[in-house]
Amino acid sequence: MLTGNVIQEALAYAEEVFRNDSSGHDYAHTCRVFRMASRIAAEENADMNIVCLAALLHDVDDRKLFPETYLTKKNARGFLTEHQVSKQETETILQIIEEVSFAGRDSVVPAILEGRCVQDADRLDAIGAIGGGRAFAYGGAHGRKMHDPEELPVYDMDRETYFRHESTTVNHFYEKLLLLKDSMSTAAGRKIAEHRDSVMRAFLDEFLSEWAGER
Ligand code: ADP
Ligand code: NI
Repeated sequence: MLTGNVIQEALAYAEEVFRNDSSGHDYAHTCRVFRMASRIAAEENADMNIVCLAALLHDVDDRKLFPETYLTKKNARGFLTEHQVSKQETETILQIIEEVSFAGRDSVVPAILEGRCVQDADRLDAIGAIGGGRAFAYGGAHGRKMHDPEELPVYDMDRETYFRHESTTVNHFYEKLLLLKDSMSTAAGRKIAEHRDSVMRAFLDEFLSEWAGER
């Protein structure tokens, strides 16, 4: 059984882990995913403690930020062990973290409802005004161009191609962000994604019109 105290400590742990990040994976991202995942979990009647803990730990072994712990999930596992979370709950949470990421056409729909709540919350933070903002922050941090009309988006990438691919920020919208609305796997997530997706499409349309000198 998990207690509120573990959640408080997971918040503090995430704050420490993401202290130095400015590429879109900062502590505020984890906090937003935590809040959104608990909102979705309430609507879907999911196990709130599992959802909250998985949301708070979902990026502490992120492939890009922590390549050395990505496979073993050493950071998340270490936190859960230190806080006496049961073996069964630990395995459930680690499985959710494993399934949450977008991986091109190799992305998966999480096996359990709690995983679907966390995945939808993480994806909702990648779309809309904040998601668009994060994409440009990421592009800047990685020295990418905002846009290059000569460079075309690449569709239907497999996992390895997607992770290796270096795209302009505008192409990232076509390669990932515009696909997320239809990948929502909870009813609550789908509803919220509708609005965010239309905000993002309006932004992109305006961006490309300005680029073409039409407005
Ligand atoms: P998540 O937290 O959803 O697992 P990622 O690790 O894939 O997200 O990426 C973190 C943030 O950076 C997301 O908002 C994502 O859309 C953005 N991002 C990832 N790759 C790119 C890219 N090539 N260009 C612009 N933004 C990107
Ligand atoms: Ni995330």
